[in-house]
Amino acid sequence: MNYRHHFHAGNFADVFKHVLLMQLVHGMQRKEKGFLYLDTHAGRGGYDLSMPSILPDGRSREPEFPAGIGRLWDAPAGLPPILTEYLGLVRRFNERQGATDAELKFYPGSPWVAKFLLRPQDRMALCELRADDAEALDFEFARETKVTVQAIDGYTGLKAVLPPPEKRALVLIDPPFESRAEFADILRGLRDMLKRLPGAVCAVWYPVTERVRAEEFHRAFLDLAPPPTFFAEISIAGVDSLLRMKGCGLLILNPPWQIDREIRAILPVLAEGLKVDYGAGSQSGWLVPEK
Ligand SMILES: C[S@@+](CC[C@H](N)C(=O)[O-])C[C@H]1O[C@@H](n2cnc3c(N)ncnc32)[C@H](O)[C@@H]1O
Repeated sequence: MNYRHHFHAGNFADVFKHVLLMQLVHGMQRKEKGFLYLDTHAGRGGYDLSMPSILPDGRSREPEFPAGIGRLWDAPAGLPPILTEYLGLVRRFNERQGATDAELKFYPGSPWVAKFLLRPQDRMALCELRADDAEALDFEFARETKVTVQAIDGYTGLKAVLPPPEKRALVLIDPPFESRAEFADILRGLRDMLKRLPGAVCAVWYPVTERVRAEEFHRAFLDLAPPPTFFAEISIAGVDSLLRMKGCGLLILNPPWQIDREIRAILPVLAEGLKVDYGAGSQSGWLVPEK
């Protein structure tokens, strides 16, 4: 496993994923009953953006956050409320870790994005396979209640944790896509999840590197006979761009009621704010329509 999320922390994909995660948490919280937030590939929980990104061969690597959260950090007032809330959450994490209000030094991973929003009746379960990241994650949440951290494979975690006693869950599957087998692993994980908790709300992040592969993934996903599913994608550059990752998407199973409208409203704003080349944009729709 070579993947280190530190290189990517706060990049355009993190901004997209974390803003939509916030929308989903809010959607879950329209009901008073508590739920389990399960993060199958949780990472370290938070990232120090001032630490140099060093590759295994010793070379340093340009950080990606300037083209992500860095683009929004000093955005003028008047942003849509969910983006204002997202920036407020990042600022809160940044200051909590010891940075001053003005400098962007620390960025929250998905566990902290969720944790800042969870209510006393909600719980959180975090899985991370890398021993050093799992240890850092455990340390991050050592003083928090209603959080469990497990150093295990996230797809095994799905089977271990679901169904939760609450019978309600929001699952984030955010794998590193280091191998081509990842799409197949996701499909197996989703099958296991749906067997255990057919009503689970689940967001699966995927990269858009070559258009065809995302579409293949959507088609293979439909073979699972899945529940209502919405997809949302942004691209920061067009198909002709030399950028390797031109965009990314989230597949959302059992989306909370009317969340599709909120997501549709924010996608063009994100694509515009994060674009780097011609052909940037967004798309979304129902892969499996609501009944
Ligand atoms: C994209 S990062 C997660 C970022 C995190 N969700 C966030 O938004 O802040 C993927 C993480 O999955 C971890 N990982 C890789 N394979 C895994 C597996 N099979 N099960 C659980 N975690 C895994 C990697 O070490 C990495 O920290």
